[in-house]
Amino acid sequence: MSGEGESRKPSVRLPPRPQDARKQKVLERMQGIKHVIAVMSGKGGVGKSFIASNLSLTLRKLGFEVGLMDVDFHGPSAPKMLGIRGQRLIATSEGILPAVGPLDLKVISLDFLLPDDDTPVIWRGPIKTSALLQFLTDVYWGPLDFLVIDMPPGTSDEAITVAQEIPKLDGAIFITIPSEVSILVVGRSIAFARRIGMKPLGVIENMSSFYCPDSGKTYKVLGTGTGRRIAEKYGIPFLGEIPLDPRIAEANDEGTPYVLKYPDSPVTKVFDEIASKILEYLKEGNALEGQ
Ligand SMILES: Nc1ncnc2c1ncn2[C@@H]1O[C@H](COP(=O)(O)OP(=O)(O)OP(=O)(O)O)[C@@H](O)[C@H]1O
Ligand SMILES: [Mg+2]
Repeated sequence: MSGEGESRKPSVRLPPRPQDARKQKVLERMQGIKHVIAVMSGKGGVGKSFIASNLSLTLRKLGFEVGLMDVDFHGPSAPKMLGIRGQRLIATSEGILPAVGPLDLKVISLDFLLPDDDTPVIWRGPIKTSALLQFLTDVYWGPLDFLVIDMPPGTSDEAITVAQEIPKLDGAIFITIPSEVSILVVGRSIAFARRIGMKPLGVIENMSSFYCPDSGKTYKVLGTGTGRRIAEKYGIPFLGEIPLDPRIAEANDEGTPYVLKYPDSPVTKVFDEIASKILEYLKEGNALEGQ
């Protein structure tokens, strides 16, 4: 009898939970994206945006389809470095179309949505999380080989959201400068990344020595070897070192990306090497294994 009662129970189909529906939407959006790489650091001002922008262009030069998502809501700087500030995002029936940068790099940044330069972004964590989720669910990237994410400094809500919500995240590249403080701070952010399930793909040491364009000589200003030491300590690949070079700061300030302005320079070659190490790493499938 009890079996009969059970069979008469009306079958109730519950609507999907909001987080499941969202995950599904992100999954659908990301379907055409092969690899996702975050560029992060525990420290601010170490060159994340410069490296995210120029690495994206290096991958573009190799013929890959690339998108750059700037999720630094308080200090969006990738559009400035790429010389595409002032572009507006267009909403279509397919979704929000990214802005178009040099070499047809696709770029999404809050900077395109701010009305003027004086508008501060006074957002607490939950609002930033929902803006980031909107970037993930509403942007129509089209097919991409790589989506590079320019992260804000520190171990933020944004990093947790990126780790939890992006199904195809290969992992993160960590940027350090050559200082003892950096070993501590960047080391902690690598441990944080591992804790939240984000695989560290490698370390880049930026501003590692001063290159004087006048004399052509290189000076060790801040110290040396921090990147290699971090890589060794945490058992992750060392991807390369980029010198402190006034032409880099200048190129970023004028919005003429360094790797395009100085295609034959040693720094551009470092970017080529970093890109090929990442490609090799992804080809070997390392990034797809568990922690
Ligand atoms: N190797 C370098 N040589 C000279 N200047 C550099 C170098 N790398 C970065 N810069 C300059 O240092 C400043 C900080 O760089 P960038 O904005 O890329 O750092 P960030 O880590 O993204 O900062 P934030 O934490 O604020 O997002 C910029 O003015 C940039 O032009
Ligand atoms: Mg930045």
